[in-house]
Amino acid sequence: MNSSVHSKAGASLLGHNSSRSSAAFLRETEVVPGGSMRQASWFGPPPYAASGSGCWIVDVDQRKILDCANNFFSLIHGHAFAPVVEALGEMLRRGTAFGLPTEVEIELAETLAARGPALEQTRFCNSGSEAVMHAIKGARGLTDRHRIAKFEGCYHGSYDYIEVSLESSPDNWDDADGNPASVGYTRGVAPAVLTDTVILPYDNAELCEAILRREGPTLAAVILDPHASRAGMMPMSDDVIQVVQRACHRDGIMLICDEVICFRLSPRGAHPIFNIEPDFVTLAKTIGGGLPVGAVSGPRDRMSVFDHTGGKPRVAMGGTFSANPMSMVAGLETLRHYDGDQIERLNRLGERLRKLVSDGLAAGGVAGSITGMGSLFRLHLTDRKITGYRSSYPNPAEAAALKAIHGAMLADGILLTPNCSGALSTPMTEAEIDLLADRLVAHTIACPVQPA
Ligand SMILES: Cc1ncc(COP(=O)(O)O)c(C=O)c1O
Repeated sequence: MNSSVHSKAGASLLGHNSSRSSAAFLRETEVVPGGSMRQASWFGPPPYAASGSGCWIVDVDQRKILDCANNFFSLIHGHAFAPVVEALGEMLRRGTAFGLPTEVEIELAETLAARGPALEQTRFCNSGSEAVMHAIKGARGLTDRHRIAKFEGCYHGSYDYIEVSLESSPDNWDDADGNPASVGYTRGVAPAVLTDTVILPYDNAELCEAILRREGPTLAAVILDPHASRAGMMPMSDDVIQVVQRACHRDGIMLICDEVICFRLSPRGAHPIFNIEPDFVTLAKTIGGGLPVGAVSGPRDRMSVFDHTGGKPRVAMGGTFSANPMSMVAGLETLRHYDGDQIERLNRLGERLRKLVSDGLAAGGVAGSITGMGSLFRLHLTDRKITGYRSSYPNPAEAAALKAIHGAMLADGILLTPNCSGALSTPMTEAEIDLLADRLVAHTIACPVQPA
């Protein structure tokens, strides 16, 4: 039964069902639920990647695709970046995992420490989700409390507490008292997970203050991403940040700054830009140079919670492949080539993109905007002022138009994430930015939001 359903879908979304990508998709649906390993990369039968070089992917049907998703914001230097390839080749010949520490893990931790006091010490793991989970456990260990607070709609990985209210919608996002409700993301969420996760509004300092005054003494941690993609890719306001910062100081709550995506914004990451003094910083994506990685960083007195010397640590943080030398050398080479000038150049390209798209949408008379800082961007199809999760939450007509634009861009050889956000990479030049802006404006105009 699957085959006929999927061959129809494959035919419509890939253009024809005789392509190698269509065949791969049909094959995958037999052995993988949903025919895709990642929900986030699901946007209908996709092209299958064969190789990548710089900012271009070649799919199995030999189509060239400009990669503006960069494996969900992780590939800062695009694909097959020569220094990373060389370092990996060399490490591969020496061995990939030892069950003993390596000097390269020290070098990567030192590289991070050199970027600021909030990154003084680091423990590595294999993904951003793991990093967030460990930072929360660390906060619990330091405070002997277990509840946490997170911001509505914000994504911090696939960990049950952190998925609460990830996708709350207008029909369930307020509780009876007008506070953001704790809404389970999927079925089967333990009730305790909901009561132990307090939800904060991304763009309402007053309400944040009231919630934190009430709940603060019971909280181990507040986690925030100050430039959250799912909250519109809008910077969190200084007011909200200060409310959180004050509550953390007042009530002894650990402040976790999740920089899994936004670390790329400056050489020292995002927290100095937003005047945040975090107890823990969670990192992943770019710091692994294209290989799986995660990290919890923080000042020595916070990170000591993971110190296992002398017996059982206060909080355990381990993993078979944690700090594996392949991820370490890839991350090292990536960061060596991502500092000062490179970051400034990439951020300038981001500004160019946002200006070109804004001007183009205005000239085309389209209700829409492009948000983002540095090398990050996200398209919105509304004239609502985007300030956070609720204002960026697309209504069904906007969601349908975004899906159409994503599909049209892909058919035109440009890959965005499914919600039409993306990230630039250092191999890009003004030529690719201009192409991206031109196609994004053209397809946005061609795929209007249909009145309900
Ligand atoms: C802000 C943020 N935190 C955590 C994560 C989870 O990282 P990973 O996918 O490596 O588990 C993500 C993933 O996109 C993220 O955007």
